[in-house]
Amino acid sequence: MISLGIESTAHTAGVGIVDSDGRIMANVSSAIRSDLGGFRPGEAAEHHSRVIPDLVREALREAGLTFGEVDLVAFSRGPGMGQPLQVGALAARALALRGGKPLVGVNHPIAHIEIGRLATGADDPLVVYVAGGNTQILVEEGGRVRVLGETLDIGLGNAQEKLGRKLGLGFPAGPKLDSIEGEWVDLPYTVKGMDMAFSGLVTEAERRIRQGVRPEDVAWSFVEVAFSMLVEVTERALAATGRGEVLIVGGVGASPRLREKMEIMCEERGAELRVTPPELCRDNGAMVAWAGILALAQFGETEVGESRVLPDWRVDELEWRFLRKDELRALLEGRSRRG
Ligand code: FE2
Repeated sequence: MISLGIESTAHTAGVGIVDSDGRIMANVSSAIRSDLGGFRPGEAAEHHSRVIPDLVREALREAGLTFGEVDLVAFSRGPGMGQPLQVGALAARALALRGGKPLVGVNHPIAHIEIGRLATGADDPLVVYVAGGNTQILVEEGGRVRVLGETLDIGLGNAQEKLGRKLGLGFPAGPKLDSIEGEWVDLPYTVKGMDMAFSGLVTEAERRIRQGVRPEDVAWSFVEVAFSMLVEVTERALAATGRGEVLIVGGVGASPRLREKMEIMCEERGAELRVTPPELCRDNGAMVAWAGILALAQFGETEVGESRVLPDWRVDELEWRFLRKDELRALLEGRSRRG
């Protein structure tokens, strides 16, 4: 079975093609560029509607396929920004209807997690999902992905972008912040139980810069504090769940500094650290295509009339199981037998 997936929740439009053995046949994308830092949802939607048709053609070319050989069309249903989401959904509906193929709407965080499991071989991990709009510690339990801890305000990635804008680092600022060296500055560390907050950290960092503290010292300390908070909550979740693996997914997961800090913690606890490769950490179409196959196997297709986008769709609002490869195969065979 071959799945074509369309990603469009935020700044990136992506199209990927993946088969049911988990082979990534194509993964192409285009992200909206803004030198001012940040972007407006309407601009992203405009960008995505311009590039998606070409990305579909490019992905098919890269995979060496015609659209007739694709078996299903998947798209990110949410969570995300309404306007960009609509564009991806419209493109997916049009393709599915034109080709008479099943349409499958997938949850964006689930897609991040599942491509991470596929790429790293993680079986039943504690998941650290860290991106622009999201920062959550998750496990699958009883047919649902449960949130053990999360940010109470903004995602860690957005916190980085806010400070980056102040420092004039451009967008995305995360990778640049990551590589700045500096000296320690006291900044607020906010962990409440299993949850984190990053807004106060940004505000205080900005205040320190206004006070004349060296920007590189503030930037270095900011990253140190933000990642330490995340590592602390992850460590507590590891102890509480007894999981033996930690899987990092999402855009900020590409950070070498985060990986280093997590590695030290995991080593101390005897847990295995699995980090999704950078090209699959970012928002991309392959993760949507792969999650589309897993969703179709478990729950069937999404009726076009019921395929509205869900900008606030939390990962714990849907049923989901981490399938093993043999379970997936059995489910897909069952579906094709029923025809
Ligand atoms: Fe994402």
